[in-house]
Amino acid sequence: MAILLIGATAATMQGSYGLIPDAALVLEVDRIEWIGPQSDLPDDYAGLPARDLGGRLVTPALIDCHTHIVFGGTRATEFEMRLNGASYEDIARAGGGILSTVKATRAASEDELVAAALPRLNQMLAEGVTTVEIKSGYGLDTETELKMLRAARRLGQVRPVTIITTYLGAHAVPPDYKGRADAYLDEVAIPTMRLAHEEGLIDAVDAFCEGIAFSPAQVERLFTAAQALGLPVKLHAEQLSNLGGAALAARHGALSADHLEYLDEDGARAMAAHGTVAVILPGAFYTLRETQLPPIGLLRQHGVPMAVATDCNPGTAPMTSLTLAMNMACTLFRMTPEEALLGATAHAARALGLADRGRLAPGLRADLAVWEAKTPAELSWRIGPTPLHARIFGGQIDR
Ligand code: NIG
Ligand code: FE
Repeated sequence: MAILLIGATAATMQGSYGLIPDAALVLEVDRIEWIGPQSDLPDDYAGLPARDLGGRLVTPALIDCHTHIVFGGTRATEFEMRLNGASYEDIARAGGGILSTVKATRAASEDELVAAALPRLNQMLAEGVTTVEIKSGYGLDTETELKMLRAARRLGQVRPVTIITTYLGAHAVPPDYKGRADAYLDEVAIPTMRLAHEEGLIDAVDAFCEGIAFSPAQVERLFTAAQALGLPVKLHAEQLSNLGGAALAARHGALSADHLEYLDEDGARAMAAHGTVAVILPGAFYTLRETQLPPIGLLRQHGVPMAVATDCNPGTAPMTSLTLAMNMACTLFRMTPEEALLGATAHAARALGLADRGRLAPGLRADLAVWEAKTPAELSWRIGPTPLHARIFGGQIDR
């Protein structure tokens, strides 16, 4: 059954905003069948039951392309420790940080992980998100990594959302492998990746390339093993220092390199050459009170597509609001509202390797957000969510 939407202000995100002021859209099953100025609506569609959007803004539904929403426990105590003088790296080296979430995640059952993640997911959906990437990486042993990925997949069965899973077994070196990162990769991270892949649990492979995590040479070994399985790769790179991770990821044809505060021009050039998306994560920058700004000007200059995501995680970005991340990208990094919206739609889709969404065009998925707003800049302007009028997932209006 087809649906006709009229009276829309459509931001198609084709190239830029791609605004159509008095737009109509025809949705057929889960696809966009037609979109254009209402005055051009073909006669065949004119008789369909129509919903008048009263001039409201319609955008592609938002895509959160970098999250860690499946985890046990909280990290409020460390937040407090940082406010009492400890640094993120001090805490990590003392066995806290990522490893404290590992403890809590190992202790939780799969059901408990699903239950803990659901409120976070619900908040995302209430803000017009229909595609969420979820990383593992708080297990660091076979059983818990698989448990996290299964929990992530289950979230996609209990809510109207597409879940993309990313295996992040190389997120940190677990305590029993302290000082033996290579052995951890060979004995746990890489074999677990193979098992998870056999079970159909992995859409992409990620790693944390950093002094407190894995070296570029170690990441390269993981990527080679991932690519032998035909899995796309991406990388947490240049977040706290410049190890050349982004260029390494780009050379491996990575979908994205994420964070990038310490990216240099060679890195930006390599990303441009290989079509690797820059995923900008202002929530982590804000939480860590980082002062090194990601080089947005360089990324622009080299034509690297920029995505924006929440990085929702208990340590560095306890946030679920993608529109807040867009606001932060504008205010803290001087991205434009147009770049921020491209970053949460078309470029986010690209960071996940999804060609069927992120823009409004015939043939693409009917994943749409209808906002209590008239102009696209409003989505980045507010500090916090813009009220949502309707969310459409695969042609189904769910609110
Ligand atoms: O994306 N950078 C590494 N991973 C997460 C932080 C994880 C944590 O502190 O729990 C991030 O910021
Ligand atoms: Fe992250």
